[in-house]
Amino acid sequence: MFVDVASALTHLDAFLERARPGYEADRGLADTARALSVAYTETRAIADDAAADLAYLAHFGPRAVVAMARALASVPAVDMARARVVDIGAGSGASALAWVFAGVTDLTLVERSGPALALAGQLLPLKTRRHQGHINSFAYKEMTHASAAFVVGELDRADTETALGALAPTVIVVDAGDRPRARRLQEARDRLVLRADAVVHGPCAHRDPCPALVRERDWCHDRVDKTLPPRLAAFSRLVGRDDAAMSLAWLTWSIGVRHEGVTDVGDVVVIGEARREKGRTRLPVCGPSGLRFLQTLHRDKALTKGVEGLVRGTRLRVTVRDEDGPADTAVLRGAAGDAFVADNAAALSPS
Ligand SMILES: C[S@@+](CC[C@H](N)C(=O)[O-])C[C@H]1O[C@@H](n2cnc3c(N)ncnc32)[C@H](O)[C@@H]1O
Repeated sequence: MFVDVASALTHLDAFLERARPGYEADRGLADTARALSVAYTETRAIADDAAADLAYLAHFGPRAVVAMARALASVPAVDMARARVVDIGAGSGASALAWVFAGVTDLTLVERSGPALALAGQLLPLKTRRHQGHINSFAYKEMTHASAAFVVGELDRADTETALGALAPTVIVVDAGDRPRARRLQEARDRLVLRADAVVHGPCAHRDPCPALVRERDWCHDRVDKTLPPRLAAFSRLVGRDDAAMSLAWLTWSIGVRHEGVTDVGDVVVIGEARREKGRTRLPVCGPSGLRFLQTLHRDKALTKGVEGLVRGTRLRVTVRDEDGPADTAVLRGAAGDAFVADNAAALSPS
């Protein structure tokens, strides 16, 4: 599913400018946003009704849109006229804004904070159904898709199981890319892949146990460019946060739904940055045989440049192996390199 992120962020920016002219240079608003950000990072929870604050929307709104778009890109497109979508823990509507700019018209928000829901009603350029209450107080059975953006980290384990297990046939969960939140999604994914009726759309390209769960200290996260419009970027800098990129964890899946042409086995996903070593470059990827590396030699200039340009989250086809290389490494040179380039031409030369 494609989200028109640029239009969604333009809408958010225009809304903020109408609600608080000059918001991007408003130090009081930035101080409030910084305090919320610290609370979210350090205590992993923020006060009830916090999302009802314009400072919250200006600071956290863009990340919700960008993260939802990243995760939704993995979800098979459907006829939007038939999609019935619920966004749980909808806050002031930023994550729901991504659904609107994906073309959804039947949208329900579930949120315990009345003031946050009221702000969402003003933000969203669409009439939505709004259900105020705990996520367990809503009847989900008519829904085709459900999302939970930056909520799962706030829920206790029992509510997480409810949220992840029974919301809708297709579920989209996004959260911050820190260790506790990311591992929670990876653990959920490891349970899902045991179900014969479940298809995990992303971010993983295999059904094996997650290699990042083996050691307690590890976790896997994605990183995306935010490409904020100028005022939202200026506000982010005033708050003192990265206005260019963000880390996130996400998971998307369907249960009991047939999607023609969708497989959830095969390929690998780039899970980190390329590392230049003496004479060679190594790129970490995750695939059916766990954590592996793609390796190019610097004398293969074009191939190395292509591999070094690959960003986290890129899905690749690696059908080649070099028998001489280390067991965890696909060495791309000669015929192996040619086959890799042919299989991944689009990823290696992004338009
Ligand atoms: C961090 S905010 C995210 C808001 C929105 N999804 C976004 O990404 O901008 C989390 C929201 O979840 C709501 N929430 C947390 N636990 C909830 C629960 N058990 N039932 C309903 N809402 C809940 C909070 O009130 C808050 O507005």
